[in-house]
Amino acid sequence: MTELNIGLFGLGTVGQGIYRVLERARNAHASISRICVRSLAKKRDIDIPANMLTDDPDDIFNDSAINLIVEVVDNAEASWRIVRRALEQGIPVVSGNKAMIARHLPELIALQRRTGAALLYDASSCGSIPVIRNLEEYYDNDLLLEVKGILNGSSNYILSRVFDHGEDYGYALKRAQELGFAEADPSFDIKGFDSLFKLVIITVHALGVYVDPGRVFTYGISAISDFDIKYAREKGVKIKLVAQVVKLDDDRFTLFVMPEFVSPGKYIYSVDDEYNGVVIRGECYDRQFMFGKGAGGLPTASSILSDVTARLHNYRYEYKKMSYEGRPAYTTDVSLRIYLRHKNPEVPYGLKFDKILERYISDHTCYTVGDLSLAELMLHPELLSDPDVFICNIPRFFESDDDGSLSNIN
Ligand code: HSE
Repeated sequence: MTELNIGLFGLGTVGQGIYRVLERARNAHASISRICVRSLAKKRDIDIPANMLTDDPDDIFNDSAINLIVEVVDNAEASWRIVRRALEQGIPVVSGNKAMIARHLPELIALQRRTGAALLYDASSCGSIPVIRNLEEYYDNDLLLEVKGILNGSSNYILSRVFDHGEDYGYALKRAQELGFAEADPSFDIKGFDSLFKLVIITVHALGVYVDPGRVFTYGISAISDFDIKYAREKGVKIKLVAQVVKLDDDRFTLFVMPEFVSPGKYIYSVDDEYNGVVIRGECYDRQFMFGKGAGGLPTASSILSDVTARLHNYRYEYKKMSYEGRPAYTTDVSLRIYLRHKNPEVPYGLKFDKILERYISDHTCYTVGDLSLAELMLHPELLSDPDVFICNIPRFFESDDDGSLSNIN
């Protein structure tokens, strides 16, 4: 068996996790030869021989003994430069950078096909949960109906702490950063972009279709208020940040990231703290559920290790579903039911509901519950940055198939 000599880029929370995990994985047939870091002077929690470290990428790219690059830098531009160069040089790569992968996936697929070098990235989506490889291999058919779940550990940690433990939102966010769950810029977590990038990657492996992240409705939890939490508690539900890709019929699918009211009968209701949970629904098996730690150094490193050992057997993604006939097309022409909390009695920004089911008006806070199209919601980007507005999805897809649907919210 060929031994893998790894050139590692990045020695932050995940990079250090990889170093630790590889030391313990005696049958991995893989070891780190060289580590490229941004700052040689930076103090780190682990002792690493000084001669392993470099700040010059050429020390890795020009070392002919290195036969696998593992890239876990937090900057998406730097990640793109590293991965592109590695693939162009014919060196296989394992990456965890979801922003880079979601933005460049079509080019990355083309590069892999042209150069023959493989790129694996299970660690990019849901930390330790093997969601990509399962979608690619086990669910290699067109009977999938939906992939839906909690894909961001930090926002889930914050919501759990605020909802279940009454902690202050700002304090919970700070703890998520201290515990190493949050991105370098935590607004990516709480505004939903981290979930979006993962959802875009998941959609390629679920349905064989790439959707540019800029075309996907993405709304996070930063505007949530005590009023919304109280509303959810009174209805007996939790608010979770949920990403979903849903096949509407044989020809069409939709995807979006939005907070959602989750009732106790749902698998993701019990997914708390930094855990992620992914529900996969198919035509023949109803629902399956994957649960695990979605953020943090060691859980993410374990997923990297799995991709590293997969390379021992020359595993690569084949993107088979991208060549399926009759792939569904992305649409935003789909009706959603939402809870919209706003400040003044009139619905903000002229947002047009097709049907209003409930309205509440008081001096300080109002809300409207009703149906509108996703396309209509996307016509009003001003909503997304208005601190006086909060939007929450009331799930309707497949609800009659599931136990515990939201019968008490319209
Ligand atoms: N910031 C991410 C999260 C890390 O909180 O889920 C794992 O991708």
